[in-house]
Amino acid sequence: MAKKKAHLLGFIQHGVNSHATGMWRHERDKIGWNFARPEYWQHMGRTMERGFFDAMFIADELAPYNTHEDSSDAIVKWAVQSPTHEPSTIVPIITSATKHLGVGVTLSTAFEHPYSMCRRLSSLDHLSNGRVAWNVVSSYSKSEWDAYGHTMTERGGRYDRLEEYMELCYKLWDSWEPDAIIADKASGIYADPAKVHVVNHEGTFYKCHARHFCAPSPQGRPVLWQAGSSDRGRDFAAKHAEAIFAVHPNVDRMKQYAGDLNERLTSKYDRPEGSVKLIYGLQTVVADTRAEAEEKYARIKECIPPEGALAWMSGHFGLDFSKFSPDEIVQNIEVPGIQGLFDSIIYAKGGAPVTVAEAAMIYAQGMGMPVAVGTAKDIADQMEFYMDEGGADGFMLAATYTPGCFEEFADLVSPELQRRGRLRDRYTGSTLRENLLSN
Ligand SMILES: Cc1cc2nc3c(=O)[nH]c(=O)nc-3n(C[C@H](O)[C@H](O)[C@H](O)COP(=O)(O)O)c2cc1C
Repeated sequence: MAKKKAHLLGFIQHGVNSHATGMWRHERDKIGWNFARPEYWQHMGRTMERGFFDAMFIADELAPYNTHEDSSDAIVKWAVQSPTHEPSTIVPIITSATKHLGVGVTLSTAFEHPYSMCRRLSSLDHLSNGRVAWNVVSSYSKSEWDAYGHTMTERGGRYDRLEEYMELCYKLWDSWEPDAIIADKASGIYADPAKVHVVNHEGTFYKCHARHFCAPSPQGRPVLWQAGSSDRGRDFAAKHAEAIFAVHPNVDRMKQYAGDLNERLTSKYDRPEGSVKLIYGLQTVVADTRAEAEEKYARIKECIPPEGALAWMSGHFGLDFSKFSPDEIVQNIEVPGIQGLFDSIIYAKGGAPVTVAEAAMIYAQGMGMPVAVGTAKDIADQMEFYMDEGGADGFMLAATYTPGCFEEFADLVSPELQRRGRLRDRYTGSTLRENLLSN
């Protein structure tokens, strides 16, 4: 059987710092670049395309976390995913600087009506020539609900709303028939109204009586991404997603997850195994020698501010970790927040006890993702192992210092993967969907 080729995504945020806390102060971070300016994003896009990535994955949250000590002080103070600018604004900047790279944008359904969401995503799909993906989220953080002046809906309720949200989105995206546009200048008829269907939706949570305002886009609808990991989350992903993101600290957890997802796909949703790409989080620290890579890794860890680390954990897991003793064992704690990511620290030491203080430092470095530290060959070995043994179709590569970490990956690791037949040497599709769903 042909070896699987890796799908690569660059995991980043439209902010001063992404998922490795404290990186903004690393001496190699953003040398000569400003994250809030277009040139940085153009360069980032070109770099990922040079490394033959499928897409850039722009993560997001809608407001600074406020769970830690009931405040967002520590979040703002230590630049814990803060400041973070609106993610969809940079999509056309990235796609007009590149030819093939897709962009996946995280947009929450919690406070936006499906009508405007669909219009925005269809517009982005046009502007990118069919290279946009939507990471569907429903706002797990209390801070987001506070910012919009709403009482937080619990997990089950969020997934109920999300189901109806998607149903309405599909109605809108599918409402223009392929030959609806006539554009006959002689008669002056642009579109056949009989083929542009009015969507009449009267649901429990949403109402909509309108025609979708955008002409059919190159992909018809964005590529759908999802990262829910609770039972409901996995079902939602198995039903709707084309790529699923998960963080697992070791290959046994990856294997279990792949088995579970494939089982849900085939037995519940009548979708073939492999129709959804399983993309696992991975952080890489590459250098010409192992010693140099270890040195780099140590420096990355030195940049993590302990209070910021704890505040980030509090934000993602919806619990104020300042109230716990640093020696408390995380396995004894239940969290209301992102369970899938909490599991990554529960199993960080193969299931052995992990203290709150240790968990904060592990988490702050890259959300509990496995870290591949070494030469390009070491890193490629680890990626091959996760693909062959853990069921990974690809990797969400978490940023450390930027854009340097992606430049290093493109210069050192991508060529090594290509030499092994584990990475494309050209893009074969013209849309993100074609590239991402290819083998
Ligand atoms: C790898 C990964 C990345 C995620 N990125 C985001 C994000 O950028 N923004 C967001 O609001 N939620 C993000 N989430 C949260 C999930 O999409 C989901 O909303 C959350 O896990 C709650 O659903 P669950 O209880 O089913 O896990 C991420 C989750 C994972 C596992």
